[in-house]
Amino acid sequence: MSDYLVQFNNISKFFGKVIALKDVTMRLKKGEIMCLLGDNGAGKSTLIKTLAGVHKPDEGEIIFEDNKIVFDSPKDALDIGIGTVYQDLALVPLMSVTRNFFMGREPQKGIPFLKTFDVEKANKIAADRMGQIGIDVRDPSQAVGTMSGGERQCLAISRAIYFGAKVLVLDEPTSALGVHQASMVLKYIVKAASEGLAVILITHNVHHAYPVGNSFTVLNRGKSMGTFQKKDISREKLLSMMAGGEELDKLEVELQEMDRIHNLYIIMVIGIHIWERNCSKRFSICSFSI
Ligand SMILES: Nc1ncnc2c1ncn2[C@@H]1O[C@H](COP(=O)(O)OP(=O)(O)OP(=O)(O)O)[C@@H](O)[C@H]1O
Ligand SMILES: [Mg+2]
Repeated sequence: MSDYLVQFNNISKFFGKVIALKDVTMRLKKGEIMCLLGDNGAGKSTLIKTLAGVHKPDEGEIIFEDNKIVFDSPKDALDIGIGTVYQDLALVPLMSVTRNFFMGREPQKGIPFLKTFDVEKANKIAADRMGQIGIDVRDPSQAVGTMSGGERQCLAISRAIYFGAKVLVLDEPTSALGVHQASMVLKYIVKAASEGLAVILITHNVHHAYPVGNSFTVLNRGKSMGTFQKKDISREKLLSMMAGGEELDKLEVELQEMDRIHNLYIIMVIGIHIWERNCSKRFSICSFSI
């Protein structure tokens, strides 16, 4: 049996002429937080959608618990324990916390053929689960739209864990959050991994990824630039490997050049001003002597 829970082997995905992924290999173990980094359009969401059963890879294979998997739908992925929290969260803002927590998998009560939604049980489970991560839901019937961004993220993650996820895939969970809420979500992710879940954390933000990640895979325009263990790579190196690194260096040089031209311009203006004053003084001395 292999050490890895999930293996992406040489995955390629094409959308017409667009090469979204080319020959990407990425592997992760139980309890590991693997951060998937890359600029906009690098292929991060496409890669995790191949694991979530949304897209079928055009080349390569995905191995889960030593078995090659081919999904017909996202439900197949959910059923074997791949819990995905998408970039747009897939929550319904006008529906209650409880309804969003269960989303079609509500507990029921009553006799066969006459079953009804067990609201009390569902409310209790939703409130308890949210309480375990430090979010006090006073009224589980409150609309999700009234919760903060961080609380909504935690609800989506908590839901995936409750329904038996072995791999938790999080697409940009901290992108819309402030410092406090982002750290709340990151702490929760670390707790989930310490309980044995494998986590794939997608982010643009190296400062969010570095403190919590055990390993880092960098994608650049659909290609993997490699997977690095934390001990083998610094935060600065990761930053410069992402496409933004080089571009930011270029921008800095351009800004320095603009600054230099601006300073030269100011020196020139001051020089002209002094020269003008000297000239006018000489002129007035000359006119006095005449
Ligand atoms: N369904 C689709 N049809 C056509 N092209 C697609 C589709 N999904 C993704 N792409 C293309 O594949 C490439 C990778 O997109 P993807 O969404 O995976 O990037 P990403 O790394 O998640 O970017 P971001 O950080 O902006 O979310 C992009 O060029 C995108 O336009
Ligand atoms: Mg994306």
